[in-house]
Amino acid sequence: MSTKEFEKVLITREEIKDAVEKLGKRISKDYEGKELLLVCILKGAFVFCSDLVRNITIPVTLDFLSASSYGQTSVSSGNVQIYKDLETDIIGKHVLLVEDIIDTGLTLKVLKGIMTVRNPASVKICTLLDKKDRRKVDITPEYCCFSIPDEFVVGYGLDYSEKYRNLPDIMVLSRSVYE
Ligand code: IMP
Repeated sequence: MSTKEFEKVLITREEIKDAVEKLGKRISKDYEGKELLLVCILKGAFVFCSDLVRNITIPVTLDFLSASSYGQTSVSSGNVQIYKDLETDIIGKHVLLVEDIIDTGLTLKVLKGIMTVRNPASVKICTLLDKKDRRKVDITPEYCCFSIPDEFVVGYGLDYSEKYRNLPDIMVLSRSVYE
């Protein structure tokens, strides 16, 4: 695309690295002595989760859940579809859902509900980004790296129509790309 594809860099790779290191330390302390299962919500959280897990210093297991409420658009439908479920039995485990971004909160509300009925010891939410102003349901992450304004962002795993996941920084996408 020749016209301006991105408005600006919102969060640099250095800021992300620093925040993820701090978060890994916090989680390691909070879950000391507990059976921790990180659930990476695909696809958007794959980069965040791979960095986060390497900053966790206690024993941890990992599983993947693929869900989407967006399809090819930039607006959440609230109609959450699970494409790939967990392979792990979560009964009695401390589940930490790892998400790239919370927007309306609809996706995580549904996913947290699905996890909770499977009788884990606990279910908490860890997100890289939080767009609090856009919330439509009552859901608060226990762990969050950055609160961001109401802008559509891409990079570090986040996509628009499956593009830009490979960018190392978090960028604000120009409106002209998706409007
Ligand atoms: P929610 O159900 O509205 O909270 O949407 C959460 C999901 O929407 C995230 O897991 C992302 O996949 C996607 N999403 C929300 N905002 C953005 C954004 O700014 N950039 C990329 N994906 C986003």
